[in-house]
Amino acid sequence: MSGMEPRRSQQWYGGDDRNSYIHRAWMRRGLPADAFGGTRPHIALANTASDLTPCNSHLTEVARSVADGVHAAGGVALHLPVVSIGETQVRPTAMLWRNMAAMAIEEMLRANPIDAVVLLGGCDKTIPALLMAAASVDLPAVVVPGGPMLTGTFRGVPLGCGTDVWKLSEEVRAGTLAEAEFQRSESSMIRSRGHCNTMGTASTMGLLAEVLGMTLPGIAGTPAPDSRLLEAAHATGILAVELADSGLRPGAVMTRASFLNAIVALAALGGSTNAVVHLLAIAGRLGVDLTQDDFDRAGSGVPLLVDLQPAGRFLMDDLYRAGGLHAVLAEVRDLLDPAALTVTGRPLVAYLDQVLIYDREVIRPRDAPLRAEAGIAVLYGNLAPDGAVIKPAAATPELLSHRGPAVVFDSVEDLHARLDDPDLPVTADSVLILRGCGPRGYPGMPEVSNLPLPAKLLALGVRDMVRICDGRMSGTAYGTVVLHVAPEAAAGGPLAKVRTGDMIVLDVERRLLAVDIPDADLAAREPSPAAAAAYAAPRRGWEKLYVDTVLQANTGADCDFLIGSSGDRVARESH
Ligand code: FES
Ligand code: MG
Repeated sequence: MSGMEPRRSQQWYGGDDRNSYIHRAWMRRGLPADAFGGTRPHIALANTASDLTPCNSHLTEVARSVADGVHAAGGVALHLPVVSIGETQVRPTAMLWRNMAAMAIEEMLRANPIDAVVLLGGCDKTIPALLMAAASVDLPAVVVPGGPMLTGTFRGVPLGCGTDVWKLSEEVRAGTLAEAEFQRSESSMIRSRGHCNTMGTASTMGLLAEVLGMTLPGIAGTPAPDSRLLEAAHATGILAVELADSGLRPGAVMTRASFLNAIVALAALGGSTNAVVHLLAIAGRLGVDLTQDDFDRAGSGVPLLVDLQPAGRFLMDDLYRAGGLHAVLAEVRDLLDPAALTVTGRPLVAYLDQVLIYDREVIRPRDAPLRAEAGIAVLYGNLAPDGAVIKPAAATPELLSHRGPAVVFDSVEDLHARLDDPDLPVTADSVLILRGCGPRGYPGMPEVSNLPLPAKLLALGVRDMVRICDGRMSGTAYGTVVLHVAPEAAAGGPLAKVRTGDMIVLDVERRLLAVDIPDADLAAREPSPAAAAAYAAPRRGWEKLYVDTVLQANTGADCDFLIGSSGDRVARESH
């Protein structure tokens, strides 16, 4: 325990008055009196296990191992089910609920008599929401990433979750794959418990939770069905008890140095563009000065070392077999800040001695990278005054410098209605623009930026085009996609003024995204009424609160009233 300070849970359980009696009595139910005496820390297991978040449903079992570890170390383990978000299940988009989940989790951590928390997550939004919550309460916290699923196969070849859905559905639309075969692949896609096995958002955020210092080192990326995950969970339970004693808080672990390390790792791993908004949002809770430009500055010169889908070939269990996260980090060790701590109190880099790459196809050594430069490029120009991002490693190199006429869609409904129209004025040189998909407009900034290609171009063999959107893109997607355009169309961004036929200029080398019309002409234009008609206009509930308060992608799309931390103090009693 830190100094002579009584444990936080003693604010509830300590003393002989009526209120402490109530707090203890209702919790007894088999717990001995010594559980409340102040020697044993109370550890919440904030768990996003849910049958409607299939990627996380196994966390119920994982939490039992965490609880065993907590008990073995003398703590009291308390299961705390929290808001969970199933990426593939919830409508209109999981991102709409990330801030709500973070808010609800934050409040329940603060309101309850606990000394530390173990955060169990996996599917895309769950680890970001848990980390945002933990940052805003700033109680000692540690993450157990739920881990990826094993590789499924179809027709003798591995299936990448997500990535191959996009590929196979494009094949169907191009007429090269029979509909019945596509349907047959469905039962092969998800081989086991766990989250998506590509380097999508879940894999990325699980790995980055460790780079941020917030897991027991060496466990991120352990496949969900692997026995070693339960071992790691048990050890994390023990660590949580130590954390309650040491008092090491997220604010002391997740420093600017940790975030810069995460940006380096994001590039070397070829991680999801969604990590940009999630890391910015977590940093915003901690008051860490991190900007979107830091991703370009710290990440763009970093080589891509990991050959995983969607940018490459392999899947998460291959990465684990090849040496895992630490083998990747060891290759870029010189780019990591040695001062950044982990929850063990030791720096991240202290865990990178004597790690080996076991398969140099999956993890490339530093001197033979997949690409010399990876990371996220941040673009500016009259189409994106506050920035837009692109992941060059997932793009077609020839399209990274491109000039072509815009074909503009005012909403996803407009896109679906007109995309395959044989009369759509579109060629392979066109730039497809979709607006109204930002945080405020949709609402919730859905993963629609990798818009499908027109059927008539697919039939001609076109497989990539420049696409621009104010939404996000699935971490499992690929293509020359400019996304997170800020401000979004619905927040007064110039994207709302572009018209079909305008010449669009993309120049990633120069970090430029522009529409080639004079500034005065652009300023004089009215925003598209058709786009405005499709913007969300909720009247009540979370959607209303969200649309009224959500900030733009370039700062992490958090709600304005959720930025920052309130600490763990609760001033008043309930009786
Ligand atoms: Fe849950 Fe991909 S849908 S991680
Ligand atoms: Mg996703």
